[in-house]
Amino acid sequence: MWEADSGDLFAPRAQTHDKVPVPPRAVTGELTGEDIDVERSLRPQTLADYCGQERVVENLRVLIQAAKERGEALDHVIFSGPPGLGKTTLAGIVANEMGARLRTTSGPAIERTGDLAAILTNLEEGDVLFVDEIHRLNHQVEEVLYPAMEDFFLDIVIGKGPAARSIRLDVPRFTLVGATTRTGLLTGPLRDRFGISYRLDYYSVKDLARIVERSAHILGARLDAEASQEIASRSRGTPRLANRLLKRVRDYAQVKADGNITWQVAAEALTFFEIDELGLDWMDTKILQALTTTFRGRPVGLTTIASAVAEDPSTLEDVYEPYLLQQGLIIRTPQGRQATLAAFEHLGVTPPPS
Ligand SMILES: Nc1ncnc2c1ncn2[C@@H]1O[C@H](COP(=O)(O)OP(=O)(O)OP(=O)(O)O)[C@@H](O)[C@H]1O
Ligand SMILES: [Mg+2]
Repeated sequence: MWEADSGDLFAPRAQTHDKVPVPPRAVTGELTGEDIDVERSLRPQTLADYCGQERVVENLRVLIQAAKERGEALDHVIFSGPPGLGKTTLAGIVANEMGARLRTTSGPAIERTGDLAAILTNLEEGDVLFVDEIHRLNHQVEEVLYPAMEDFFLDIVIGKGPAARSIRLDVPRFTLVGATTRTGLLTGPLRDRFGISYRLDYYSVKDLARIVERSAHILGARLDAEASQEIASRSRGTPRLANRLLKRVRDYAQVKADGNITWQVAAEALTFFEIDELGLDWMDTKILQALTTTFRGRPVGLTTIASAVAEDPSTLEDVYEPYLLQQGLIIRTPQGRQATLAAFEHLGVTPPPS
């Protein structure tokens, strides 16, 4: 149940299927700029174009076909995993493959319950509503979302005090696609209302090399197989990074070589841009240096590391830490984060005797 900010908005027209104007800030605007055009051109549009994450792709293929054959909307889907692994891409693919319209918003953009009601009542049958960063929805908004997800209605309260009355609005059958980098922050009731849930993992070098080759083809860059392998192996298992490195290597090849991206050119370029053999960048290295050198391998709390490297704690936790953990360079202990022997070896720092 939620209270409308203005009784006038609903009172005379409160019937099912009434639409509430969508506040502009709640729907993320169209992006502009050359980089974004490139980004968009590289984004796969269909399951067939999507490289890697085979289990997720095969699963979705079956579920989408089944829903289409029955003429129904797909069940609500949630994608979780570290940044840049393809959650937003998959949301677009779900809409495309369903032949549905995609509506996009994000958790922090839906500030009030009225914003959500406006978005939901403006949907059409079968639409896909993509809510990015869904773990950042506020509590009241989430409560309104539950019955909309489950039974496709909204309960609203008009007016205040003894004169308040409650009105039920129907919501068209839609598919909610949520994305989150932090499954741990999703509330249980919200998580339970998604019929389909996928966790995306870091990509293998082989899959990333395919992504690099596909992107090079779209960008018209000339690239050797060994070069795509080199770029892939330094991309932290992340397609976004693979595409970004490819673009930087292409720039380097154009200025410092003859434009062809050979293995030699790719390796030189990546060293030039300070991406090491594990794909660690400047900030990853700074974090490892803090843990190995400043704190001498002792366990350290997240906020302490964050201040040591002058980075926001949640960025550390969402963006940097998962890959360092996956690579076995750090571990999480009850006392805090700790560098492993592999981290000392990687940096060439002598570990403390203990
Ligand atoms: N499986 C894939 N095949 C090819 N390209 C991919 C794939 N997954 C992602 N990409 C590329 O990586 C870029 C980043 O993907 P996307 O924006 O979907 O990540 P995300 O998981 O939503 O990240 P964030 O958590 O930061 O929002 C896309 O622009 C797309 O070009
Ligand atoms: Mg995204």
